[in-house]
Amino acid sequence: MKVIGILFLICFSAICIDAKPKSKLWPPVPVEEAGAAAPVAAGGEGGTFNVKDFGAKGDGKTDDCKAFVAAWQAACKCTGSPKVWIPAGTYLTGPVQFYGPCKGVTTITVQVEGTVKASTNLAQFGGHDWISFSWVTGLILTGSGTFDGQGAVAWPNNKCAASKKCNVLPTSLKFNAMKGTKISGITSLNSKYFHFGLIDCQDFSVNGIHITAPDESPNTDGMHIERSSGVTVADSTIGTGDDCISIGHGNSDITITGVKCGPGHGISVGSLGKYQNEKDVTGLVVKNCTLTGTQNGVRIKTWESSPGPSCATNMTFEDITMDNVGNPIIIDQTYCPFVSCGGQAPSKVKLEDITFRNIKGTSSTPVAVTLECSKSLPCKNVVLENINLEHSAGSTSACQNVEAKYVGTHVPPPCKI
Ligand SMILES: *[C@@H]1O[C@H](CO)[C@@H](O)[C@H](O)[C@H]1NC(C)=O
Ligand SMILES: *[C@@H]1O[C@H](CO)[C@@H](O)[C@H](O)[C@H]1NC(C)=O
Repeated sequence: MKVIGILFLICFSAICIDAKPKSKLWPPVPVEEAGAAAPVAAGGEGGTFNVKDFGAKGDGKTDDCKAFVAAWQAACKCTGSPKVWIPAGTYLTGPVQFYGPCKGVTTITVQVEGTVKASTNLAQFGGHDWISFSWVTGLILTGSGTFDGQGAVAWPNNKCAASKKCNVLPTSLKFNAMKGTKISGITSLNSKYFHFGLIDCQDFSVNGIHITAPDESPNTDGMHIERSSGVTVADSTIGTGDDCISIGHGNSDITITGVKCGPGHGISVGSLGKYQNEKDVTGLVVKNCTLTGTQNGVRIKTWESSPGPSCATNMTFEDITMDNVGNPIIIDQTYCPFVSCGGQAPSKVKLEDITFRNIKGTSSTPVAVTLECSKSLPCKNVVLENINLEHSAGSTSACQNVEAKYVGTHVPPPCKI
């Protein structure tokens, strides 16, 4: 035990120069770039950097963080397209931070064929995420391997909704200020908090990944995206205890296609409007997705009594199949999960140019279409086209403060407005 502790400290200090206490709210503030970058020296032409050659034990007991970071730093110094290779085996680590910039590389690949397990000792994280990549251009994260957050032990410590004095639990895979990232193949299992978190990323594509956690696990969002642009999530399966994919503020040009969600809370825009100075959301396409047994289908939620103003516009949800889904289509501008939301003022998030097209299947709740918009800022130009959502007792619609246009066929029948 002592040896593991010492190894961890060495490892951590080598990659985490500035271990300030973290903010309570997600996302944790990224560590300052200055001083944190891997040394950029003249390295060789890219090659393969096997973590075992850098001392990884892969025995599932020894903390292999130091070896992972050493292999990364060697690859990061290269030119060309180096690869960090994590071969078959079971690896244990606490927080691991992979920093760029890797100035000489065209791409830098991390190929995971083994299972990487997160430490279950929360004290080791101190508010940091588990595995984070920051300020890298051209990351390719791929392989048939698994990141196992071992969240079950941590979930009872998820108490930030009830108390402000708390550290948010670690996100499994966190991406800060990345450019040109490609992720494929990998599996994320039982994260302690979010599985994937993106913040300030540009040009980010995710393909053919698997995300799994039990439906009762708290805040295990599959992927949370914030302040990012040019993000595509395609052909992936996501079953978790919270949102399948959540699109926070400041996002533009986000495409989600061929994603299968369930269990979980569905695909969400928001919640928006909780904080001062939130940036707008614009250019979202959710297409060819299937939701099975989720609490919601496609949802836009904004806080009541939001400081505002901000807006979410140009969002299209189409070719979506709902299988026994609660609230298949829902706009909720009175979101307030806590007992008190202050003055109960109407939401100041403006929703405009939103299309729901070719959405079919079954609803587990009688109200299959809910459009509850803000009293002070009614939703504008909401288009519903070819909606067919059945409920065993007949499905209905609920609307408030919305300017909606109905095209094609409609089950449930439109609201009379
Ligand atoms: C729709 O998504 C599925 C994966 O869920 C994929 O196999 C299929 O090719 C996609 N269809 C289209 C038309 O993109
Ligand atoms: C709406 O969003 C789509 C997808 O991101 C984009 O291609 C299109 O240009 C946007 N339209 C407007 C009017 O901004």
